[in-house]
Amino acid sequence: MTSRKILVTSALPYANGEIHLGHLLGYIQTDIWVRFQKMMGNECHYVCGDDAHGTAIMLKADELDITPEVLIKNMSNKHQIDFQSFSIDFSQYHSTHSQENKDISTNIYNKLNVAGFIKTRMVSQAFDPLKQMFLPDRFIKGDCPKCGSNEQYGDNCEVCGATYSSIELKNAKSVISGATPITKDSEHYFFDLPQFEVQLKEWTKAGHLQDAIINKLSEWFEEGLQQWDISRDAPYFGFQIPAVEGKYFYVWLDAPIGYMASFKKLCDEQNIDFNEYFNKDSNTELYHFIGKDIIYFHALFWPAMLIGSNYRTPSAIFAHGFLTINGKKMSKSRGTFIQARTYLNYLNPEYLRYYYAYKLSSKIDDIDLNLIDFKQRINSDLVGKVVNIASRSAGFIVNKFNKTLSSYTTESKFYQEFFDCGDIIAKHYEARNYNQAMRVIIKLANKANQYIDKHKPWQLIKKQNKQTQVHDVTSLAINLFRVLMTYLKPVLPIMAKQVEEFLNIDELHWKDLKHPLIKHQINTFKPLMLRIEDDQIDRIIEASK
Ligand code: 2FM
Ligand code: ZN
Repeated sequence: MTSRKILVTSALPYANGEIHLGHLLGYIQTDIWVRFQKMMGNECHYVCGDDAHGTAIMLKADELDITPEVLIKNMSNKHQIDFQSFSIDFSQYHSTHSQENKDISTNIYNKLNVAGFIKTRMVSQAFDPLKQMFLPDRFIKGDCPKCGSNEQYGDNCEVCGATYSSIELKNAKSVISGATPITKDSEHYFFDLPQFEVQLKEWTKAGHLQDAIINKLSEWFEEGLQQWDISRDAPYFGFQIPAVEGKYFYVWLDAPIGYMASFKKLCDEQNIDFNEYFNKDSNTELYHFIGKDIIYFHALFWPAMLIGSNYRTPSAIFAHGFLTINGKKMSKSRGTFIQARTYLNYLNPEYLRYYYAYKLSSKIDDIDLNLIDFKQRINSDLVGKVVNIASRSAGFIVNKFNKTLSSYTTESKFYQEFFDCGDIIAKHYEARNYNQAMRVIIKLANKANQYIDKHKPWQLIKKQNKQTQVHDVTSLAINLFRVLMTYLKPVLPIMAKQVEEFLNIDELHWKDLKHPLIKHQINTFKPLMLRIEDDQIDRIIEASK
């Protein structure tokens, strides 16, 4: 079978906030998939980068009294350190504020414009007369025009659920300056989405989307597609619209183009053919992993922009649900708004990778990180079952049998059973049903432990005539452990590396599993993973409050 050529992206994190456990759900989901593809021998590139433009970032830099350039540089460094700590293995991590992105965004805009997909019209918007800038809805607060509740944002009321335009808000104030906003007109640029209705409807039906998303899109089609406002007036941190003084691309226009820009940089550095991946009749695969809150951008605007500028469309959009912690939205007061860094100060990143894998499926349901279940799951599945297979067998091999596995001819059926499960586990990974893959693996780990329990090598070793049997039983156990760790490698890359060292092998590879390790010398076993203690979790909560 020839290897597939695959380009994978995760949503670009905004450059004005740190990575938290909610973000990590998406990155870990993607990283597992990418690692799995590579283990299967496919060529798989994984690109990402910071989403660096927009009002929020401009104002945050203002507040800190630094330039947006300095802000986004610092934040990108922080993000990359966090990602690395969780073993998120990007092929390229770039930024939307880059030359590549400016070039591609400008080029796409120009193509859309020439083809008649860009329209202009006047728009009335709230304007801060003190700060001399238009105010996005999130930067206006006032009383709800429906129920009168105060301190409501400019787009919707959190009390009665009403949606409205910020101009309708009573007693409105600018969050930035406290001034009362005035209404001001300005010419805006629009991407003419309705022109793509037929193509988008077709694309929606062609198997690129999860069922729940198809349903969502049908609703949007029924409501009717709207032109999309892609311009923002100065002051704005972004790219200027070609030949239009004082107007900038809205951050969401150049954000998805940032995927292409990041890949372009990778192509330039590694001599990969960019066009092979993005031309209209490309045979390569393109997948975007995203959270369900940004489906509109990825399943409507993005394919339409690509069609309109003559590029290929994505092979699929993979959306995941939100993260809840202990059944609720992450919250600072509950101490569950947990930043990546805080977690890392107390716990092994692979615990979280495993727990997310144990929970993730191809559905867009929300995922709950229940901290009690988390602790029990890690201690029971990983420490108590998987690692236990090696820790209770390795000592015999090392101390009694000269570190060498037996020629092990007995029980080969048992090994075969573990090997045969590889196909179904691979299917689950491919389909992003990691939860099912983990269940098959843990079931096998149970079996391996039962096998050791049945033979009790710690008793047999006391009998002179049972030495060969002890050697065979523990050698088989080590081989079963090798199989399981190969299956777990996309999820637990660091532990897999330690196991490679312990087993004294190059790399755990799916395709090598056909043959068990026979008469093979291993290294001394070092503890691979510690149990989680209650106080570690308590301290994370305390530190997050
Ligand atoms: O929602 C977000 O966090 C955005 N920064 C995601 C952008 S994804 C892509 F389109 F760039
Ligand atoms: Zn209200």
